[in-house]
Amino acid sequence: MSPTPYRMNVLIVDDMPTNIKILGETLRKEYDISFARSGSKALEMVDDHCPDLILLDIMMPGIDGYEVLRRIKKSPDHAHIPVIFISARDDEKDETFGLELGAVDYITKPFRPAVVKARVRTHMELKMHRDRLNSLVHDRTRQLIHSDRLATLGTLSAAIAHEVKNPLHYVVGNAEMIMDDILGGNMVSIQQRAVNIVKGAQRINALTDRLKGYSKKRGKSNIETPLRDIIDDALEMLRYRLLKCGVEIRTAGVDKELTVFCDPHQISQVFVNLINNSTEVLTDGTGVIVIRAGKTEESAWVTLSDNGPGIPTDKIDTIFEPFFTEKADDKGTGLGLFITRHILSRHGREIHLTRSDASGSEFTFTLPLK
Ligand SMILES: Nc1ncnc2c1ncn2[C@@H]1O[C@H](COP(=O)(O)OP(=O)(O)O)[C@@H](O)[C@H]1O
Ligand SMILES: [Mg+2]
Repeated sequence: MSPTPYRMNVLIVDDMPTNIKILGETLRKEYDISFARSGSKALEMVDDHCPDLILLDIMMPGIDGYEVLRRIKKSPDHAHIPVIFISARDDEKDETFGLELGAVDYITKPFRPAVVKARVRTHMELKMHRDRLNSLVHDRTRQLIHSDRLATLGTLSAAIAHEVKNPLHYVVGNAEMIMDDILGGNMVSIQQRAVNIVKGAQRINALTDRLKGYSKKRGKSNIETPLRDIIDDALEMLRYRLLKCGVEIRTAGVDKELTVFCDPHQISQVFVNLINNSTEVLTDGTGVIVIRAGKTEESAWVTLSDNGPGIPTDKIDTIFEPFFTEKADDKGTGLGLFITRHILSRHGREIHLTRSDASGSEFTFTLPLK
């Protein structure tokens, strides 16, 4: 049995039952129809079942069509629904006003059913293509974010190997010494070395957990988190690399009380990406990265600056573009800043390069508090 094809849904909003009847009869063959006889009922129904298209009368008692459209446009979940005004107001000014509010079309009454049918079909097709494109962009971006995380892990692999090796040596060393202690019958020392082995193993465990967490695909999950924990998580990922490059990290204003409402894994990736970029230009052992944070009434703000060479003026507009990189093939993906910007935009925020000159660069972004 073939699956029932999805029938798109049209919501007809009109205070006159005859108009609803005629429009319903015109469209019933091709679409599922629902209707509302007032603006407030229409808004309730949009909330309830999110129609694919709305035919909206303008003059209605109570909330009129203009106001219905304004409220729909304000809601991020519904702003994309195409709205066609059907109105007896045939003045060009009314039509322009309606279209400026965000209606996709304007049909004057008395309407010809064939015209309504054709226009509804056109806008339904446009909506279908738009939805399909949006979902493609969404899927592709998710894949890119994931591949950037893996690329970052690749870049960090030497550091990661080293991170695991250190506690592993520690575990093996302590085990070897236990063998000597057994021969010497030194129980106190055996006990201490066993404690050391457990500590070393726990460190390796924590490290692999973090790596697993970093490489995992995940949906968005916002929670209230201390900004300091997010930064610590990123620094822990980059610890060995910073040590190796001799880069010093200074923080200011990142108090334990400063909490932000975000997806902590994604924002930690923002810090990893930015710090990574800085360490790559800070190669002479005198590099300093300064992370400052604070908050205003509605946002937390963060600046991350380095004392590197800065970004050449002619590149400033391109650094956030996908695949723009000035690094050798195996070193850069050109996705770091693109994804950083994408992650912040999913949090409703932006990132800007706020300074770039011979004394270094500075990036600034904000994060939601709730
Ligand atoms: N802090 C910085 N200082 C100087 N140049 C930078 C800095 N951050 C980014 N850039 C420039 O922006 C480019 C794009 O960065 P990004 O999107 O992270 O990709 P990638 O790091 O893979 O090259 C880098 O190749 C580099 O030229
Ligand atoms: Mg990068």
